[in-house]
Amino acid sequence: MIKMSYLVLLNAALWGKTSQSSNYLQSGPELALDGLLTSWTHTNNETNPWWRVDLLKVYRVNRVTITNRPSNGLRINGAVIRYFFDYGATATFSCGAMEGRYMIVHIPGDKKILSLSEAGVYGVPPGNLAVDGAATQSSTFTGWFAEKAIDSNRGLQQNTACSSTLNQTNPWWRLDLRHIYRVSRVVVTNRKDCCTEQMNGAEIRIGNSLENNSNNNPICAVIPAIPAGESYSYSCGGMDGRYVNLIIPGDMKILTLCELEVYGEVNPLNVFVNILRLAVIDFCIAFQRFT
Ligand SMILES: *[C@@H]1O[C@H](CO)[C@@H](O)[C@H](O)[C@H]1NC(C)=O
Ligand SMILES: *[C@@H]1O[C@H](CO)[C@@H](O)[C@H](O)[C@H]1NC(C)=O
Ligand SMILES: *[C@@H]1O[C@H](CO)[C@@H](O)[C@H](O)[C@H]1NC(C)=O
Repeated sequence: MIKMSYLVLLNAALWGKTSQSSNYLQSGPELALDGLLTSWTHTNNETNPWWRVDLLKVYRVNRVTITNRPSNGLRINGAVIRYFFDYGATATFSCGAMEGRYMIVHIPGDKKILSLSEAGVYGVPPGNLAVDGAATQSSTFTGWFAEKAIDSNRGLQQNTACSSTLNQTNPWWRLDLRHIYRVSRVVVTNRKDCCTEQMNGAEIRIGNSLENNSNNNPICAVIPAIPAGESYSYSCGGMDGRYVNLIIPGDMKILTLCELEVYGEVNPLNVFVNILRLAVIDFCIAFQRFT
């Protein structure tokens, strides 16, 4: 019997790849991700039919939804589905903190048909959200590019793994997370070799506005100072935003940053706007009960 995997996704509509064991007529595997309840996937009548989405990378899934067909609903999954789904209904499974790249829906047994109307996977990439973002800064000191603060290298051995602006008025650095997240904390690493004051007074700002280069977004914290080579964590208590900025207000300032990490969750209010509608299924619960 196939081992179930779970997990999920990001905009699977954009990057996920679906497949299934066979296609009955035109009912291909992508129909579970088209957002339409009037279409569904459908395999042939066969042994062990399955449907799968490859999210292309590992995600931490918070929940998975599966929507059954409005008719012939028994084809979603034998006893498992009969129990959990009314025809046309959507069931939600809580998948805790499961992590994975593939989500597979599978019906064990002979002479089975698997048919899904929609599947959704809601989750975020596990760990540091900054690594999937894009960084920019107000000016760049030779070779000290903005991206070096999100290269997963805290730069303690090699200072060229850090970002730095020129000496200027109000230097800033900005991270675009690409989606709106609820940020729980930001971890900032200072350089180790010298010049540790080039972070003093930096404001951490989080929000969705690009006004004034995102430097008018609400403040999470102000960094008085960080000792050489240390990483300090700032709790942002669930601020929502797509942009995370550091800015040092004032004249003749330099902003140097060796690493900035962001941890958080998908903002539930923005789940539909943001992302993560994708497919998946996961019998993280159902199969435990029925096999
Ligand atoms: C699959 O076909 C067999 C006959 O070959 C039939 O008995 C069975 O009910 C079919 N399964 C489904 C799910 O329709
Ligand atoms: C832009 O941000 C800087 C630094 O915080 C601030 O001094 C300035 O007043 C802001 N400008 C506007 C137009 O809000
Ligand atoms: C920026 O340059 C001025 C002189 O032009 C200098 O006094 C100041 O110390 C410099 N700031 C930093 C942070 O190096």
